[in-house]
Amino acid sequence: MRIKVFTLFPDMLRPMLAQSILGRAISAGLLQVELIDIREYSKEKHRNTDDYPFGGGAGMVMAAQPIVDAFAANLPEDFHGRRIYLSPRGRTLNQRVVEELAREEELALLCGHYEGVDQRALDAVIDEELSIGDYVLTGGELGALVVIDAVARLVPGVLGSDESSEDESFTTGLLEYPQYTRPADFRGEKVPGVLLGGNHADITAWRREQSLALTLQRRPELLDSAPLDENDRAMLARLKRAGEVEALLAAHDIAFERLPLKAAEQWPKQWLGVFVPEASRKAAKKQCFSGRRHKGFLWQAFSMGYIPVFAAGDAAWERWQACGAQRCLLCLPDDALLYRVQGISPDVLAAFGCAILADETLTHVWMQTGSPARGPYYCEAGQAAAVLPK
Ligand SMILES: C[S@@+](CC[C@H](N)C(=O)[O-])C[C@H]1O[C@@H](n2cnc3c(N)ncnc32)[C@H](O)[C@@H]1O
Repeated sequence: MRIKVFTLFPDMLRPMLAQSILGRAISAGLLQVELIDIREYSKEKHRNTDDYPFGGGAGMVMAAQPIVDAFAANLPEDFHGRRIYLSPRGRTLNQRVVEELAREEELALLCGHYEGVDQRALDAVIDEELSIGDYVLTGGELGALVVIDAVARLVPGVLGSDESSEDESFTTGLLEYPQYTRPADFRGEKVPGVLLGGNHADITAWRREQSLALTLQRRPELLDSAPLDENDRAMLARLKRAGEVEALLAAHDIAFERLPLKAAEQWPKQWLGVFVPEASRKAAKKQCFSGRRHKGFLWQAFSMGYIPVFAAGDAAWERWQACGAQRCLLCLPDDALLYRVQGISPDVLAAFGCAILADETLTHVWMQTGSPARGPYYCEAGQAAAVLPK
């Protein structure tokens, strides 16, 4: 890739082009960047390159002659690349545009300064105006560096194998997932366990979910054009539902923590669901719900046929066993949302239309919302995750 930069201030670019990945790419000949000083082409006595704007107004305008002559002297007749003027009026640069530019063999970048450039120079030598964002810089040099840097990363060989550009924000159409490096515990903040487990499928799934979640949260408009498969769409639906649930929890000032579905596998055995045979329900009700703070709600759930899955302590579990409870497996739908919430009230739960996985004092509630569980289990969308074996 060859890039020619037309500027009044070539020294602004030199340090950046000498450092790090760009510096290495240029030394290795993967990238050629030529800085052309427009001032050298001025025919004015004092090599002036700007003048007052016709029609009045603040500031100076870069004159056409030095620019047009600089282009003529430095671009061969058969130049087939793109001639770009960095300008806040231009098309906004993004990764798609960068990919487009990286397919060119050569680029010519014109950096404006002061109030801009005489329109006749632009008409004569420029194919396209390109903006690096909706703000105004003092000159186009920083814009040119941004273009060079972003394009260079896509030139084969410029990035080492450990600096791949394939998995990054925008390249995938999404924002990138969070990254971590050693140590695994930094001042008590731990790296997500999945990244330490060495299971590549789990890591890929976690990263994809994080990317989708971040994009949904920060740049939802990117999702309209991102390549998404069925799993992604299901995940997004789940994340949107999570957003609604979490907004509601926050509105009720309830502390919560969303848990990975896998957390269910790690729960202590006594926290798994219990199945109370029909005959034992009365006894169970008497023994387990009497005198409880939120017993009305619990009884309602119970009589609706749900066996709330209790995150119960040993004592409660023993009482349940004493009245005939049997342990059963907790079955959660693939897209279930699991929360550990504190201080939730029955009114709030009713507002969710979901059931609970509760401990006996309801100070900690495992709450599940989701679509129907599959298999021989009874679990309705948005309702209890209690499981009744057939
Ligand atoms: C002060 S600006 C001129 C702004 C111009 N008067 C306008 O309102 O559009 C000077 C030069 O900085 C460069 N520049 C400023 N903002 C830019 C942006 N967002 N993207 C690319 N180049 C920019 C352009 O080359 C421009 O000619």
